[in-house]
Amino acid sequence: MPRKDGALVTRDYKNAMPDELETSAKPEDRGLDLALRPQRWDEYIGQGSVKENLKILIEAARRRGEPIEHVLIYGPSGLGKTTLAYLIAREMNANIRITSGPAIERVGDLASILTNLMPRDILFVDEAHRLNKMIEEVLYPAMESRTLDIIIGKGPSARTIQLELPPFTLVAATTRIGLLSSPLRSRFGATYRLDFYTPDDIKKILARSAKLLKVSADDDALSFIAASSRFTPRVANRLLKRVRDYAEVHGKGIITTPLAQAALKLLNIDELGLEETDRRLLDAIISKFNGGPVGLQALAAACAEEIDTIEEVHEPFLMQLGFIERTPRGRLATKRAYQHLGIPAPAQNAQLTL
Ligand SMILES: Nc1ncnc2c1ncn2[C@@H]1O[C@H](COP(=O)(O)OP(=O)(O)OP(=O)(O)O)[C@@H](O)[C@H]1O
Ligand SMILES: [Mg+2]
Repeated sequence: MPRKDGALVTRDYKNAMPDELETSAKPEDRGLDLALRPQRWDEYIGQGSVKENLKILIEAARRRGEPIEHVLIYGPSGLGKTTLAYLIAREMNANIRITSGPAIERVGDLASILTNLMPRDILFVDEAHRLNKMIEEVLYPAMESRTLDIIIGKGPSARTIQLELPPFTLVAATTRIGLLSSPLRSRFGATYRLDFYTPDDIKKILARSAKLLKVSADDDALSFIAASSRFTPRVANRLLKRVRDYAEVHGKGIITTPLAQAALKLLNIDELGLEETDRRLLDAIISKFNGGPVGLQALAAACAEEIDTIEEVHEPFLMQLGFIERTPRGRLATKRAYQHLGIPAPAQNAQLTL
């Protein structure tokens, strides 16, 4: 079992059972989803250039007998950042120690994490944009020169002692790279951005997951699910499981296109993958704010949604679809958004773009 002390979950990756991953997994990734998480490079589909670059980074470090440089991975939720961190650890044959920005509250938490690292350990810090300033300052020398400066005492008698840390690699993940301070960002030896997946890659992920879940699915049905998966592996796997449930109850267990269509319709997910909230956001920009531009705060209030949820979950996807644009004055609905909702676009609106 993973050891849990304070902010840290430690896993001996080499000898771990799959269910041990659960401690660090998001609720959606628990249980069956863990079986779906890629365990080897060849199972990690898409993200070609990130994978290529990482393989070189790892191979070069291995040949030199050194730990790899600190790595920063960013991109929208569910695209495979945590999965990559595990793959890096596996490739380096190293233990991975898992924590997250909000879990490290005090300098003492970080000091205890760092001083307990073993040589070559991978320290995975999820939600790195939520590390507080004080913690970041302790992290800088730890990343740069593998030293930990600890201040003992207070006032004039305070003194600093410097502890040497073992060679380790920090792998940090964030959905909000813009919120990371630039001194922190600049201390990573490699930074990788994960992009949304192509429908083809999502289909490959679905085919692999269907096999692991031991469910048969028509090729067309997989294409249909892929098109509704928000270009995101986590969403694809979730939809596949819901469609499988539906096919078991209403069909013969085999996923066909009509069954997939009916299942997604019941979930209120349209053929482009838009959910109720996406449509509500678009509708608010169009009907309440005349197509925009509208500030995020006003939009969040109008839809009774959290600003963070809009920014992290809905907006990246709607922008990827070309349904909204971000301008200095706020969010703008595009012609495509009007078309998708079946609302006639005002002809004279100079703001509107394709
Ligand atoms: N490249 C991939 N190939 C196959 N499956 C993938 C890939 N990337 C992610 N997945 C699947 O999607 C799920 C979500 O991925 P992961 O947890 O790594 O995302 P994340 O970027 O860390 O998300 P978050 O920002 O919410 O933490 C995984 O459990 C895995 O099953
Ligand atoms: Mg993650």
